[in-house]
Parts: sequence; C-alpha cells; structure tokens
Amino acid sequence: MSLQNRMTMSVTAKSGNEAFIRGAAAAFCVPLNPTLETINDIKTAVSEAVTNVIVHAYDEPEKNLIHIEAELFDDSLSIIIRDDGRGIADVGQAMQPMYTSKPEKERSGMGFTFMQTFTDELEVTSAVGGGTTVKMKKYIRSR
Ligand SMILES: Nc1ncnc2c1ncn2[C@@H]1O[C@H](COP(=O)(O)OP(=O)(O)O)[C@@H](O)[C@H]1O
Ligand SMILES: [Mg+2]
Repeated sequence: MSLQNRMTMSVTAKSGNEAFIRGAAAAFCVPLNPTLETINDIKTAVSEAVTNVIVHAYDEPEKNLIHIEAELFDDSLSIIIRDDGRGIADVGQAMQPMYTSKPEKERSGMGFTFMQTFTDELEVTSAVGGGTTVKMKKYIRSR
C-alpha cells in the first residue's frame, strides 16, 4: 500500500464551496481509474462531511475554514475533513441514524450514516470548542 499523492487545502466554509471540494476529492482519485460508482460514493461521503462543517460547525461559516487532507494510495483514498468549530458533545449520539440537532431546519440526520455506508472506514473525533475531525477511507475499484 504505497503512497502516491498527498493534498492539503483549506477553503472557506460557505455552501458554494461544497461542490468544489467534492469535485476536488473526485479529481484527486482519477489516477487510479475509479469506477463511476466509486467516484459517486466518494462524492457523497465528502459532500456530507463538508455540509456538516458548513451547517453545524461555526456561527459564522463564511469567516471560517474547512480543512481537507487527502492521501492517495495505490488501492485507496484516505481523506480528512476537519474544522475548528464548536465540536460535538456526544459523537455516539450524533452518529445515530436520524439524529439531528437541527430538526427545525429539516435536516435528515443521515449524514454520518451515509458517510458510513459509502466508505470503508469512518472515524469521527471531536471536542466541545475544539472542532471536529472526520477521517474516511475508501478502497478504490478501478475500471
Ligand atoms: N462538523 C460538525 N460540527 C459540529 N456538529 C456537527 C458536525 N458534524 C455533525 N455535527 C452534529 O452531528 C449531528 C448529526 O449529523 P448528520 O448525521 O450529518 O445529520 P444532520 O446534518 O442532518 O443534522 C448534527 O445534527 C450536528 O449536531
Ligand atoms: Mg449532515
């Protein structure tokens, strides 16, 4: 499992950047010739993690950053989506299917469930006031 490429970037946490980050993650994997299904899984998982930063992490998202760190191996992508925001008090509860702290905003509470479903490994660490880190690993099936 050898490392082929690395990327780090930090982007303003505004909703207009969600498509950019998901596209960047997909483009980063292109050297491995991923199947369309693999690409779509990665886009979906990254989109959910990024959307969570935009929606939940900050009082003023447009004045704060989403941090992305990615590593491409010959068989897989490892990607970290991190923020320096409010954090999550109870990660276990937050990861339950259909749990949302914003039901009034019509959120589905399925973000972490989708991340789990569409990747091979999901690790969430968070500290109240200290931000949230979502680490995902996806094995890439080649065309
Ligand atoms: N980056 C984050 N910063 C702070 N809270 C978060 C973050 N990501 C998720 N959460 C918390 O975890 C809950 C569950 O997230 P998720 O499953 O994506 O559902 P939803 O986004 O629909 O509420 C959110 O409602 C929120 O309370
Ligand atoms: Mg969500």
